[in-house]
Amino acid sequence: MSTERSDTHFGFRSVPLEEKQALVDDVFHKVARRYDLMNDLMSGGLHRVWKEALVSKLRPPQSERIFELLDIAGGTGDVAFRVIAAGGPNVHAIVADINSDMLAIGRERALERGLDTQVEFREANAESLRFADKSFDAVTIAFGIRNVPRIEAALSEIHRVLKPGGRFLCLEFSSTDIPGLDTLYELYSFHLVPEIGRIVAGNAEPYRYLVESIRRFPTPEIFADMMRKAGFARVDWTPMTGGIVAFHSGWRL
Ligand SMILES: C[S@@+](CC[C@H](N)C(=O)[O-])C[C@H]1O[C@@H](n2cnc3c(N)ncnc32)[C@H](O)[C@@H]1O
Repeated sequence: MSTERSDTHFGFRSVPLEEKQALVDDVFHKVARRYDLMNDLMSGGLHRVWKEALVSKLRPPQSERIFELLDIAGGTGDVAFRVIAAGGPNVHAIVADINSDMLAIGRERALERGLDTQVEFREANAESLRFADKSFDAVTIAFGIRNVPRIEAALSEIHRVLKPGGRFLCLEFSSTDIPGLDTLYELYSFHLVPEIGRIVAGNAEPYRYLVESIRRFPTPEIFADMMRKAGFARVDWTPMTGGIVAFHSGWRL
């Protein structure tokens, strides 16, 4: 029997691969109630601009045909609501997330917006999606993929559930190398973000993880390669806001 242990990172900590998900889940159970407020405070509202840019790239068609969207790690439903706002009543969205607390907030928000018939919230692990092959016109994931322990497994699942001709769009934090901005971003992330977490949400630890996990995430070039290996075609990526975030795009042909 092999005694080899496969490790990964939880923030800056090296942890056994099979332990990462529980640690991540604990972070999002802790932040769920304050998640949307903290998103605004931590990004200075920029997450709204980035998500709108993702929707513009996706360009959901305002046609008679139903447009099936799967938003993985969709949490409180932000991306799905925006795609529905842009695409109209024929968008049908499934928000899939592993965390029941995040999904519960999402369901409340959908009810408040009268969108509960257009968007479904389902508990699901990105690494093993219980959806049929070739069921979605588009799959999105925003600020979610870096939390998934087995990224390759998630990419292969995303490719499997996309219809041929369907598009995958991923929005994730990246790293800036613009002199000055990198130092500022570093100071902001490692000092101010955990402090905002402590003051607003009463706990700095989960926010420290969120910042550290950004540093551990593969570079856009490596992530693009992982997408190609999972079978995606026409893979490209675009940096935004000086490289603080990157969009990745790929198609199932
Ligand atoms: C930073 S939040 C992003 C939420 C939302 N996409 C947004 O941009 O507002 C990351 C989300 O990833 C989810 N997540 C972490 N691991 C996951 C997994 N293995 N499968 C599905 N969702 C996961 C968390 O529960 C959390 O809701």
